[in-house]
Amino acid sequence: MLERVAPTTAAAMADHWNSRAWKFDGSASHRRDADAWRAAFKTALGEAPREVADLGCGTGACALFAGNLGHRVTAVDGSAEMLSHAKAAAAGAGLSINFIHATMDEAALPAASADIVTLRNVLWTIENPSAALSLARKVLRPGGKLLVSDGVWFRHRANDSRKIFGAHLPFYNGLTEADARHLLGNAGFGEIKSWRHLMPGDPYGAVYDDPETPIAFFILTAIAPE
Ligand SMILES: C[S@@+](CC[C@H](N)C(=O)[O-])C[C@H]1O[C@@H](n2cnc3c(N)ncnc32)[C@H](O)[C@@H]1O
Repeated sequence: MLERVAPTTAAAMADHWNSRAWKFDGSASHRRDADAWRAAFKTALGEAPREVADLGCGTGACALFAGNLGHRVTAVDGSAEMLSHAKAAAAGAGLSINFIHATMDEAALPAASADIVTLRNVLWTIENPSAALSLARKVLRPGGKLLVSDGVWFRHRANDSRKIFGAHLPFYNGLTEADARHLLGNAGFGEIKSWRHLMPGDPYGAVYDDPETPIAFFILTAIAPE
């Protein structure tokens, strides 16, 4: 039995992203730097068509990158509003993606059903990141590939307006590549590779509460044990 990914924060998290969905893509790097992200996904994931599960798909950026590469994609998100943008984007791109409106804990993705799992900019929002990686491992076939990407978004975020998050999210300000490597190793993943060099410059701009510091981010893939 897996631990829950978001035992306390799931409902508040869905509300949070429901209220932000309308503006999420407006300033997103996946829009500004779409070609670079698409190329990075192509190199990191490979082109042979595979079963992909995108966990916390948001407005669908990663699901669409994977779909455009010819992969068969299932995409899960707890926020109905984020998903409605994702569905519109997939329809606009002529892609058939299996969208599931559910938290990761409730989505009930079958074990060993995916060749690739993607988790981009999701771990920082997760109460139990280790449980999210265990879930990814369960959903992956042995030898399957996990892509994890995230960054350090804030330097010191005040834990006032959203106590429910600050008190419960271990990476409320974001996470470093070293944090992610540690989590991946503990979850039993191996062959960890960085693809950061495929995204030139600082695509995310500056840390939200420190305009002088670029947002440090990482793109890693790791392989589930056989
Ligand atoms: C920062 S957005 C990233 C969206 C997308 N992966 C991307 O790279 O653009 C985080 C997303 O994770 C979703 N999320 C957070 N916790 C979740 C959970 N426990 N189950 C499902 N979705 C979750 C949120 O609803 C939100 O859409």
